[in-house]
This record gives sequence, structure tokens and C-alpha cells, in this order.
Amino acid sequence: MNYLNTRSRKNLLKYFNPKKYVNFLRQYPRLQNLSKINNKITRSILIKYYFSLVRKNKNLKNFFVDQSPHISKINFNIQDLYSGDDKIFNSLASNGIVILEEVLTSEERSKILNYFIEIEQNKITSTWINDKIIDASSVKYKENNKVKISYMQKELEYLPSLLNINNLITKRIFGKSVKTFAEFFLHNCLEKENLNIYEDTKFHIDRYLPCLKIIYTPNEIDISGGHFGFIKKTHKLNNEFMNSLVMNSKSFDVEEDQLNDELRNNIVSSTCPKNSLIITFTNGLHKRNIFQTKSIRKTIFFQFTNNFNFFSLLNHKKYN
Ligand SMILES: [Fe+2]
Repeated sequence: MNYLNTRSRKNLLKYFNPKKYVNFLRQYPRLQNLSKINNKITRSILIKYYFSLVRKNKNLKNFFVDQSPHISKINFNIQDLYSGDDKIFNSLASNGIVILEEVLTSEERSKILNYFIEIEQNKITSTWINDKIIDASSVKYKENNKVKISYMQKELEYLPSLLNINNLITKRIFGKSVKTFAEFFLHNCLEKENLNIYEDTKFHIDRYLPCLKIIYTPNEIDISGGHFGFIKKTHKLNNEFMNSLVMNSKSFDVEEDQLNDELRNNIVSSTCPKNSLIITFTNGLHKRNIFQTKSIRKTIFFQFTNNFNFFSLLNHKKYN
């Protein structure tokens, strides 16, 4: 009897676990949830509510709402970040993407390449968040096996320069430094890809609210090696095409023939030299270009939607 009582109490606690609901509420708004709202008025009210919260954070307002003067330069050197020069962030506000070059010292870069060798050779020797290599392609690409993706996570204390760079960048964008961890992706292209076979090789958005992604590439990524593609200016929340996409779409991706001339002219092919960092806003239209040769792409991703979430939007005073 006593046992039953304890068990039912546990079940009840599981059901009414307040932490579960707080975690759900805390989540940064997702496209999956928006796509379930078919009523246009409800969808519009919800989007307008979130946009009003974004406007209250003066840093986010600058990057995602305010009109920014036209700047054509998107390639910079890491020293421009360390010197505190505004030009990187002015270009980011205007275009939604910048590429920083010569990011790490050669020692730090080789340390990262050694981490990738552990994944490539399946011999884990350093400290990772979880020692198991995850086969991300089986989740993402199902039975299609032209590209195999291996995935691991590492705490940023093992990558001190990238931790420092992330802190500098997030402070400017969100108003306060935002913590994250490093996501190692090893794309192994076993067979040349066809056009748009996977969802992430079509122009799409990850979120409909400000979404920062930072990507480090230790090696050069050329036009045939699955380089990142972005459409400049689509990160602005008041962009007409994007508003219509967010209001009307179910899938939140766009076929090439749906792009108008302006969007087409703003496509950036972000090929980059070795040791580069892409800073971009993936609430704007972006994709991974297809691999045109058998090759291996090594990238480290930094994402912030766990630690800059709905509560952070509500708590805008703390960030201003
Ligand atoms: Fe994406």
C-alpha cells in the first residue's frame, strides 16, 4: 500500500512536474510550433508579439529591425574584432553574414584538427561532453547515404580563443555574452550529390526570430566542398518576402524558382580560406550547398537558442 502510494505520488509528480512546463515555456520559439497555427490572425498576433519583444532589446533591434546603411564588404580579419572596430558589426547588421579570416594561431588550429582526427578515426582520447560519436546523417538524411555526418560536442573551456571570440560577438548581438558549447560536424561526402536532395541544401530558415550561428572552418571550403549559402538582408524581421514566408509557409523553405531578382542578386556563396569564422543569422534564408566532389568538410558550430531563449526576450532590461 505504502509502495503504491509512493509510486502514484511519483507518477503524479512526473505529470505535474513544474520544471517540465517551465522548460517548455523557456524554449526559443520554434518553426514546428508556428506551422501548427493555421489561423492567419492568431499567427499574425503571435509573430507581432514576439517582434515587439525583439524591438525592446536595443542590440537586437539594431541588427534585426532597424534599416542599416548598405555595406558591400563581408570579409574581415580577426584583428578587426579584437580592435573593437564597428565595421564587422555594421556589415553584419546590413547583410546578415560576415566572414572573419586568420582566426586562430596555427597551434590552436592544429589542436582542433587533432580533435577532428579523433572523430575521423573513431579513437576518442580527449575530453568530450559525451564520448559516443553520433551519426547525425541517419537522423537528418534517413536512408540516403551520399553524405555521412559524424557529430560530437565539446565544452568551450578546451577552445579558449573561440570562447573569447564567442563572448565578444554575443555581447554585441544580444547585449550580454551568451554561453554555449562547440558542436563538431564531420561531413563525409561518399558520392557527388544531386541538386536539393536534402532539406538543408534548399534555402530555408531555422527560426523566425533572431537566430545567430557561428561556424569555424579549420580547412578551406571551396565551391565544390559543401560551402554555406546565404541571401543577404533576409535576416531583417521587416523584410517583405520573409514576412510573407513566415505568415504563409508550412515548410519554411524556398525553391530556387520562387526567388525574385532582388533575392537572387543577394545570394552569397560563402567559400572561405582555411582558419575562417562565418558569423550569420539563420532566421535569414540559408543552405548548405551540395558537395560536387567526394570530400570531407570539417566545421564547428556554435548556437545560442538554449541560453538566449524566450525568457531572455522577456527579460530585455537585463540585456540593454
Ligand atoms: Fe539551417
